[in-house]
Amino acid sequence: MSIEPSPRFPEERRLATVLFADVQGFTSLAEKLDFETVSDMLKGIWNRLDRVVEAHNGYIDKHLGDGLMAVWGAPFAGDNDAEQAVAAGLELIRALHDFCQTTSISGVAEMKLRVGVNSGLVFAGYVGTRREYTVLGDTVNLAARLEQVAEPDSVVIGENTLRLVGGSFRVRRLPPTLVKGKTEPVQPYAVESAALQIGRIRYQSADSLQTCMVGREAEMERLCSLFDEVERGRLPLMALLDAELGMGKSRLLLELGNRLAAPPQNITLLTARALAQTSRIPFYLWRALLRNRFGLRDEDHREVALQKWQGGLDNLYREEPVNTRTEVGNALQAMMGLAEQESSPSPEASRRVNFLTAEVLRRLADNRPLAIFLDDLQWADRESLNLLTYLLQAGDKALPLFVVAAARPEFLKSQPQWHNLARVLHLEPLAFSASLVARAYPDLQPWPAASLEEIGSRSEGNPYFLEEIVKSLLKSETGAAGTGTLRPDWAVAIPESLRATLQARLDSLSREARTVALLASVVGRVFWVGSLLAAARSAPLPGGAGGLNIPPMVAERFVQDGLRQLVRAELAFPRAGSQFSEEQEYIFKSSYLRDVAYSLLPNRVRAQVHHAVAEWLSQRRDPAYLSMARDHEESAAQAARLSTGSLPPL
Ligand SMILES: Nc1ncnc2c1ncn2[C@@H]1O[C@H](COP(=O)(O)OP(=O)(O)OP(=O)(O)O)[C@@H](O)[C@H]1O
Ligand SMILES: [Mg+2]
Repeated sequence: MSIEPSPRFPEERRLATVLFADVQGFTSLAEKLDFETVSDMLKGIWNRLDRVVEAHNGYIDKHLGDGLMAVWGAPFAGDNDAEQAVAAGLELIRALHDFCQTTSISGVAEMKLRVGVNSGLVFAGYVGTRREYTVLGDTVNLAARLEQVAEPDSVVIGENTLRLVGGSFRVRRLPPTLVKGKTEPVQPYAVESAALQIGRIRYQSADSLQTCMVGREAEMERLCSLFDEVERGRLPLMALLDAELGMGKSRLLLELGNRLAAPPQNITLLTARALAQTSRIPFYLWRALLRNRFGLRDEDHREVALQKWQGGLDNLYREEPVNTRTEVGNALQAMMGLAEQESSPSPEASRRVNFLTAEVLRRLADNRPLAIFLDDLQWADRESLNLLTYLLQAGDKALPLFVVAAARPEFLKSQPQWHNLARVLHLEPLAFSASLVARAYPDLQPWPAASLEEIGSRSEGNPYFLEEIVKSLLKSETGAAGTGTLRPDWAVAIPESLRATLQARLDSLSREARTVALLASVVGRVFWVGSLLAAARSAPLPGGAGGLNIPPMVAERFVQDGLRQLVRAELAFPRAGSQFSEEQEYIFKSSYLRDVAYSLLPNRVRAQVHHAVAEWLSQRRDPAYLSMARDHEESAAQAARLSTGSLPPL
C-alpha cells in the first residue's frame, strides 16, 4: 500500500547534529527477566531519556530496542544545536543512572549508557512506505560509529561537533579510529564535563588563531566614559550594545571587562549570558550570574550547591544574625535553581526576589562600583528583565551599578522601552580595508594587499564572517602555501558555525517568509518579485519537497506576505532603481544568507525553480537577461543530473 505523502517538515539538505545512545548491559540483563518486566523497564528508561532529549530541544528520530537516535538541527535548527546535543548526552548518562537507582531489579546497576555525537551535512526527508522523517548520510553513520567507540558512561564526539561547540566542554583526545567507507581515520574526543567559563565568546575558535579587536575604539571610549559617569554620580546606568549577529558585541564586552578589571580600577565585575533554551526560566540570567559568583557548577549535587550558596551568603551577611542569613538563602533558593520554582512566580514573589537580589548585589559591590555584563539579552526571561529594570530605577536605594548588555536587534524591536532605560550603542559594520584586516590578523601581514582587500570585502563588514573566512583560508591550500595569493576563482566555503547560525535564522521565520527566502535564493543574491511569483507558480513540487508547496490560487498573496516579513526581519531589502523598470528589485542582506538558503534545497527542487526562473527571465524585453536565463537553464540541468544520480525519486 502506498501512502500519499503529507510531509510535515520540508525535505532539505541540512547541517545537523546526530546523537546515538545505547544502553550497554541491557541485553544480558533482559535475558534473565520476564519480557513484561523487560518491557516495563524499557518504558521507564525511554520515558526518562526522551524527556532529556526534549528538554534540550532535540528531535527523537527513533528507538532501536535499547538504543536511541536523536537529531538537532532538523527538522528545525535552534541556537547552539551542537552544544545542546552534547549537553543532552551528558545528561542522558545521569538520567539512566537515576533510573537504575529507582528500581530494585538486581543487575540494573550494570546498565551503562554509551553516547556518540557527530555534526555535519545530512539529507533530511521521508523514507520507507510509512514515510518516516529521518536524516541520512555519512554524518549519521559516523555518529553511530562514535557511539561504538565510547566507553560505558561516556560521551564521544567527532571533530565537527567539537568545532561547533567551541570551548563549551572539556574534552580529551582519543586514539584515531577507522570507519567503514573512509580511508582516513577519524579523530574522536571524549567529553569530560561542561566548561566552567560560561561567559565565552560564542564563536571563539578552538584552534588558537590570534585576533586583535579592531575598529571599535570609539565605542570603547564611550563605554569607559559611561563608566566614569557611574563612578562620579554613583547612580545606576546601563549601556546596551545593539547589533546583528557576529558584529562583535561579545568581543567588545570581553575587552571592556579586561580593561575595567585591570588596575588601577577597583571594581567588582559580574557576568552572565542568557541562552535560547533558558528564555522561559524565571530569573535565569541572575541565577547564572550569582552561580558564577558563588562558584556553583551545573554538575554539583544539590547538597554541595546549597552549601556553596549558603556559605557565600554567610560570608556576605556576616554582620547579621544567623536566621537572617538563612532566611535570605531560603527565599532565593528557587531563583537559584536549588528548589522547585513555579513557571511564572506571582508578582509578590517576584518583588521579594527583586528586593533580596538587589541587597545581595549591594553587599557584593561593597561600596565600590559594580559592573554587570549581560550578554545575549534577546534571550533573557521576563523576570530577569523586570529585575534589571528594578535595579536601574531603584530611586534612593540605587547602587553604583554599571550594566553593559548586548543584544541582537530583535530585542530593541520587540521591547522598545529599553531605548529609555539604556544608552544604546549601535555597532555598525566595519570597513575592512587591507590594513585593517592585517591589524586584526597579524598572521596575515605578509599577504599581498590585494588579497587582504578581497577578504575584507567578502566579510561584508562583519568580523565574525571575516574570522570564518580567514580560518578557512588558512586551512585551505592558499593559506598552506603561505603566499596568500588568491586564485581568481577562490570561493569561500561556508564554515559550519556560520551555516548553523544562518540556518537557525531562516528556521525562525514564518513559513511564508522562509519559503520566499528559499525561492529567492535560487534567483540569486538579487531577485525580483516577478521571478519569485514565477518560481512559486512552477509545477507543484514533488512530495512538498522543501516545504514549497504553494497553492497557485494564493501564490501572489503568499509571496507578497513572505517578502514583507522577510524585509521586516531585515534579511532582505528593497533596492531603488531596478534593472527591470517594471519590477521591484530586492537583495539578500548577505550573500552567505543566500548561499545557506540555497544549500537547503534538494537538487530536484533547485532544478524546477531554476527552470521557472529561466523562463521568466527569457520573457524580459532586455536581451542582456537572456544570458542570465541561459545560466539558470544550465543550473537547472546540472541540478537535475545530480538529483537523479544521487537520490531515489520521491
Ligand atoms: N572588532 C573586532 N575585531 C576583530 N575581531 C572581532 C571584532 N569583533 C568581533 N571579532 C571576532 O568576531 C567573532 C564574532 O564576534 P562576537 O562573538 O563578539 O559577535 P556577537 O556580536 O557577540 O555575535 P552574536 O550576536 O552571535 O552573539 C569573534 O570570534 C570575535 O573574536
Ligand atoms: Mg555574542
